[in-house]
Amino acid sequence: MKLPPNFHIVNHSLVQHKMTFLRNKDTKPKEFRELTDEITMLVAAEATKDLPLKIVETETPLTKTSSKILDVKDVVIVPILRAGLGMVNGLTKLIPNAKIGYVGLERDHETHKPVDYYFKVPSKAEDNIFMVIDPMLATGGTAIATVEKLKNLGVHTIKFICLISAPEGVKAFSTSHPDVDIYTAVLDEKLNSQKYIVPGLGDAGDRLFGTE
Ligand code: URA
Repeated sequence: MKLPPNFHIVNHSLVQHKMTFLRNKDTKPKEFRELTDEITMLVAAEATKDLPLKIVETETPLTKTSSKILDVKDVVIVPILRAGLGMVNGLTKLIPNAKIGYVGLERDHETHKPVDYYFKVPSKAEDNIFMVIDPMLATGGTAIATVEKLKNLGVHTIKFICLISAPEGVKAFSTSHPDVDIYTAVLDEKLNSQKYIVPGLGDAGDRLFGTE
């Protein structure tokens, strides 16, 4: 598959190492949540590496110097319920002042299309940087619909962060939103007939919350 220019795999040894334990069927929810946190931070570090900076003066114990701090309005993290919740902690560790919106979109198990049941993001936040998070980019349906909702509010800076992508989801998302960068830990092989990612890790929500 020819990868679209908005698609970025974080090919970092620690990310790839931790993904192996995340995928393992014997990994229990506690460790699964910790790994999700850690991998999210590593992927998010790549997704935020070009945030604008400004120069400020600061004083070290030795001298005055100019240094850099973020020069952005607010960052809004938008987990897609429910599995996206598992990535919130990792992102807020990196960006503690971020606001958090919520999107409740779940896949209908028969049609595999996203069904909308909740949507709450900060008002008057069009100029903020939005980070939509969901561990699995499978068909792309929920991610595409979430970004559409944000764009309808006038939001123009959006990044999508996930852990595992399927080629089908990457293609669909990039076709709908070529202007939105996707950051992922790995690109998997395919979707199965149930639209689960193969090899994947199973149902991310169940594995995070122990609801299997
Ligand atoms: N959602 C999941 O949790 N797992 C998949 O494999 C696909 C979508």
